[in-house]
Amino acid sequence: MELVLLPQNRSGTPVSFAEYCAAGGFEALKRAIRELAPLEVQQLVIDSGLRGRGGAGFPTGKKWSFVPRDLPGPRYLICNSDEMEPGTYKDRVLLEHNPWHLVEGLTLAAYVLGVRHAFIFIRRGYETPANNLRQALAEAERAGLLGENILGSGFSLQVDLHVSAGRYICGEETALMNALEGKRANPRSKPPFPAVKGLWGGPTVVNNVETLSNIPAIIRNGPEWFKALAAIPEAAGTKLFCFSGQVRNRVCVELPLGTTLGEMLDGPAGGMGAGRKFKACIPGGASTPFLTPEHLSVPMEFDSVAKVGSRLGTGAVIFFDERTCMVAATLNLVSFYARESCGWCTPCREGLPFVREVLTRIEHGRGQPEDIVILREHVKFLSFSFCPLAPGAMGPVDGLLRHFEAEIREHIAKKQCPFRK
Ligand SMILES: Cc1cc2nc3c(=O)[nH]c(=O)nc-3n(C[C@H](O)[C@H](O)[C@H](O)COP(=O)(O)O)c2cc1C
Ligand code: SF4
Repeated sequence: MELVLLPQNRSGTPVSFAEYCAAGGFEALKRAIRELAPLEVQQLVIDSGLRGRGGAGFPTGKKWSFVPRDLPGPRYLICNSDEMEPGTYKDRVLLEHNPWHLVEGLTLAAYVLGVRHAFIFIRRGYETPANNLRQALAEAERAGLLGENILGSGFSLQVDLHVSAGRYICGEETALMNALEGKRANPRSKPPFPAVKGLWGGPTVVNNVETLSNIPAIIRNGPEWFKALAAIPEAAGTKLFCFSGQVRNRVCVELPLGTTLGEMLDGPAGGMGAGRKFKACIPGGASTPFLTPEHLSVPMEFDSVAKVGSRLGTGAVIFFDERTCMVAATLNLVSFYARESCGWCTPCREGLPFVREVLTRIEHGRGQPEDIVILREHVKFLSFSFCPLAPGAMGPVDGLLRHFEAEIREHIAKKQCPFRK
């Protein structure tokens, strides 16, 4: 199995500049700058089938192609390293191990987009990744691979690392831009989309750490090579998956996109704890609906997971065994989102605390059969919100209603949580 970003046997120290270069690092940047026009590099990324690794899975080359090339004034590139969603820690592990893929990928993306000023927006508390990045950016600049007149080409790029003040909503790309501009981190309305009017009104692309980190290998080895890394022809490349919950191995691993959920569970996740059975998982971070044992043969890639009513999201898989109360697990997740609502729009600001209240009364034996109807209605109501936080928050509630309605009814009938002894 060929890996792009994260070797299985890695040491505790980050990859050095010399080690990265010895393994072919910065060859892609040198080749692109010397031999390829920006649009040729963009075409390679389009042909590779790379889809964004930040959650929505939007095709990366296509996103870049939306940036108008004829508008006057500066354009911006932002690397989203906010990673505050519960269960998601893949970008942290990647940056702890190797910040160089991102430095090179960010520079290649800036070259394509004609960007002279890029930002890395990093989660507060990610101190090791931030230090690794600071050192890597300085070292790349000393080597003439960043900064003024890169490799004598006339192309220059300044990269600023910005440490977030720390709210989950800052990861939403338009809220992130407001935060970078020093404003309150509320999402902006779309349109205009960031590709046309983003940071300080300039065309802006926001990409995830893992997305950008894949770019150098695509340029170096070609789009066909990248596509062939996936386990199934419908997908392209590998993906970082990070496991948590009631499995033996709570680790971050790189796997071919399209590896089935069952292969993941029995393989790198090491199976459920001793004598325990797989009950459910959240496949792609806290905002994605549950998958259950009937989904163990589903290929973990964007379209296949969407077909069974969930989302691949960030690839953060949280496993639950048969002892888990799914009402309590959902309540826990909804509580996070209710706390992190930015308060801008009514469905989310008022709706999430209300849904939390309904789940609380069910969990504590005070639920009524009509609460199931109320929850179902709110899955719909909260889809009419200003940004994707509220619909995302309702992902686990939607999954709870579709797969565990009997468990909700048991709480209501017994007037207590059946899992509490
Ligand atoms: C509430 C919320 C939080 C988000 N947090 C992150 C995050 O931490 N990192 C990230 O890359 N994308 C996050 N996103 C998605 C971004 O808005 C954006 O789609 C993504 O950075 C695009 O990168 P990609 O195209 O490379 O996937 C978040 C979205 C929402 C709605
Ligand atoms: S959905 Fe929630 S987080 Fe998004 S704008 Fe509305 S209140 Fe803010």
